[in-house]
Order: sequence, then C-alpha cells, then structure tokens
Amino acid sequence: MSPIDGKGAAEEGGPRLCRIRLTAPAAAMPVLLERLEPLADAVSAFEQTVDEAGEPIAFEVDIWLGARPEPAAFRRDLERACAGLDLVLPDPLPIEEAPPETWLEAARLRTAPVRIGRFFVHPDQGDPIPRGTVPILLEAGLAFGSGEHATTRGCLEAIDRLARTRRYARVLDLGCGSGILAIAAAKARRCRVWAADNDPIAVRVARENVRRNGVADRVRVLLSEGLARAELRRAGPFDLVLANILAEPLIELAPGLARALARGGRMVLSGFLDRQADAVAAGYRAQGLRPVERIEHAPWVTLVLAGGAARPVSPRPIGRLRVLSSR
Ligand SMILES: C[S@@+](CC[C@H](N)C(=O)[O-])C[C@H]1O[C@@H](n2cnc3c(N)ncnc32)[C@H](O)[C@@H]1O
Repeated sequence: MSPIDGKGAAEEGGPRLCRIRLTAPAAAMPVLLERLEPLADAVSAFEQTVDEAGEPIAFEVDIWLGARPEPAAFRRDLERACAGLDLVLPDPLPIEEAPPETWLEAARLRTAPVRIGRFFVHPDQGDPIPRGTVPILLEAGLAFGSGEHATTRGCLEAIDRLARTRRYARVLDLGCGSGILAIAAAKARRCRVWAADNDPIAVRVARENVRRNGVADRVRVLLSEGLARAELRRAGPFDLVLANILAEPLIELAPGLARALARGGRMVLSGFLDRQADAVAAGYRAQGLRPVERIEHAPWVTLVLAGGAARPVSPRPIGRLRVLSSR
C-alpha cells in the first residue's frame, strides 16, 4: 500500500481500492462497526493489543473503500461515526491506496473474459460462451481469484487435466478467495466441494459466486483459518485438495492438508515463486506426498502432488481476526 496525501490529486487509471486504518479501544468496537458500515465498502478489525487474560484492549480497524474518498468530507463522516467513543482520529487521515499489482486490485480491475483449459471465466451473464467450454461466471469483487493471476491460472490448468484423467468425489479448496477453483472443480466433475477462507469478505463473495454459477447444492463455503473448522476435518478425506495460498502458510499447513487428503488423492498447491517451490515440495514430501506435475507461469509455480499416508496432527489455532462487517 502506498500512502497518498489525499489533497485532491487527479485520479489516474480509474478507481483504486483505498484503506484507512484507525486504532480503536475494544469497548468502542460494537458501536463503531455499526456506524462505519454505511460509510465503507468493507470494514475489518484485528486485535492490536490484549491484556494478561488474552482479552482485547485495542483493535486495528481497516476501512476499505472502492474509490478514493474526498478527505475532508470523509473525515467529517468519520468524526460523526466516532462521536462519543474514546477514539482520536489521526490528522491527516491516513488514506492508503493499493497499487494495481496487489492481488485484490488485480482481481477488481479485470473485466475481459479469459479462457484457461476448458474453463471460460467471464464477468457478465450476457457474455457469449464459446462452444465446448465450461463457463465460470465470476465477480471477484473484493476477493482474490478472477482467473487473471498466474497462480489461479496454474490451478485451473491442473484441475482441467485432473478432471479429464481422474475421478474425484470430495474436494477441498482451502483459501478459496472468490471461489473460482471450487466452482471449476464442481463444474468439471460432479462432486462435492468444501471451500474455505479465513477472510470473511472472500467467504461472502465466494458464496455469491457459487450461487450465481448454480452449484450451491454441491459447494459449501465456510469461514476457516486453515483447517480449524471441525466441519472441514469431518468432511475429509478429500480426493482432491486445492490450496492457492502462499509458500509460508502452505508449509505450515502441510501436516493438516496431508492428513485431509485421501490415499492416492491429488493435491494442487500454488501461490509461491519458483525459488520457493523446493521448500514447499520438501514440506509436503515430509508428509508422504510426492510432486507429479509442475506448472510454471513465471515467476509463479503450481505443483500437483500425489497423496500417500498422512500423519496425525493437531488442528491449527483460530487466527486473530475477531470482528468484521461489510456490505
Ligand atoms: C491467492 S488467494 C487464492 C484465491 C483462489 N483460490 C484462486 O486460486 O484464485 C489466497 C486466499 O487464501 C486465503 N487464505 C490465506 N491464508 C489462509 C489460511 N491460513 N486459511 C484460510 N484461507 C487463507 C486468503 O484470504 C485468500 O483469499
């Protein structure tokens, strides 16, 4: 994120996703969130400090806007929202703009349909669907996953190939973002899919996309940090596991994901760079999985792994995200 001074500089290249970060005492949070909801496209809040008992003292509150606000007018709105709460607004208001290369922004800016393997990812109901393709109607909105990013592309190519050669009945898509991979898996083969994300906005967007694609009877979307939700662990083992996250969390998740994979199942991993691929593969080899395919869209890599026996592990703890509201 790059800070901008918000003094009326001309808008370049259309609307940009903006974030305004505040610090608020825990006691103010319920009222503050209620008052912020009409002002923002989304509001997320994270614990900033906790007391000895682990109870939150203060929250970091992010106000997300689909376009840069007029600073003076937005400040007045915020002052009204904060009235009577023990909260001092920073001066000047820290309005930060997401650069276009960030994943979220890339997802928001894409509008043209894209064809990946058999999948035709398109944004509008009225788009003509090429013959022989599997359409995915996708409004990425504030969630990552429009088909434009090389990691999503790599995963869709892997799903396309796997669906041609293998049967799968139960699928896990961890880090589902917009739901694109879950929808692709559900449309390529008749199967049941559990899609999960630790971002409540992604969960909301994915649910809507699943509904718009007519696969809501087969795709269940859940809020979960890793595999923390018991329902996810109960739903396994899965014949196919998809996880397009990042190198570090993927390595951390290796024991849990390996355990969730059925014997002989396949796992598609992405979200890491060429130079990180060996470390990711090693993390999964240690859990008995072996890489069987590598898809490169430089500098990003997608790995397909074949499942072996999994080791028992304890679930990862719930993350620090505590409250969020969005519209
Ligand atoms: C790169 S996006 C992938 C979105 C979509 N699956 C795709 O392939 O385009 C990664 C997603 O993983 C989610 N995520 C990251 N870490 C996670 C975790 N530990 N548990 C669940 N979701 C996670 C993020 O919120 C984000 O929506």
